[in-house]
Amino acid sequence: MINLAILASGGGSNAEALLQYFKNHPTIRVRLIVSNKATAGVLDRADNHQIEKLVVNRTDFYDTENFLNQLKTTDIDLIVLAGFLWLIPPYLVAAFPDKILNIHPALLPKYGGKGMYGQHIHRAVFENKETESGITIHYVNTEYDEGNIILQARCPLLAGDSPEVIGKKVLALEHRFYKVVVEMVGEHLHLTPQ
Ligand code: GRF
Repeated sequence: MINLAILASGGGSNAEALLQYFKNHPTIRVRLIVSNKATAGVLDRADNHQIEKLVVNRTDFYDTENFLNQLKTTDIDLIVLAGFLWLIPPYLVAAFPDKILNIHPALLPKYGGKGMYGQHIHRAVFENKETESGITIHYVNTEYDEGNIILQARCPLLAGDSPEVIGKKVLALEHRFYKVVVEMVGEHLHLTPQ
């Protein structure tokens, strides 16, 4: 079995799509839900699916090996970021080389980097009168949104599309494609144990 840890800071609709998709999967399962926010909606989703959850604080995440030890204790093979707002520290990237994935709700390298998240992105896309937006699923390195890209998917935008409408179009792509890419990477790990 390939064990996933999903890291999320918010409501976790992407986490939900993954939880449902991998519920009875033969080789991949969600083993742990992690949040940096004790009130994050994603933690309720963990309860609903009876998945172990963990709230991590800055010290455990950045300054000690506590978080890494938690991941080892739960036998995590692959880390999936789903709306997780903290920068991933170098020790974690080193411990999980090409085994941390992120989804970004824009077509990187446009609209990426620190501060570019959620509605900030869709507002900027709107203000720049872009004719398309989309998603980028990529490996994670130590810089925001700069790891190697695995897949991008696009959606056309109409002149009247508000930032909210753009966000909805993009979120639909996220829910459709993230699980498939996570499955592909997970299956590859399963077939080529390291
Ligand atoms: C998504 O747009 C994701 O791409 C981004 O943060 C948002 C999280 O949404 N990184 P949700 O919590 O999964 O609903």
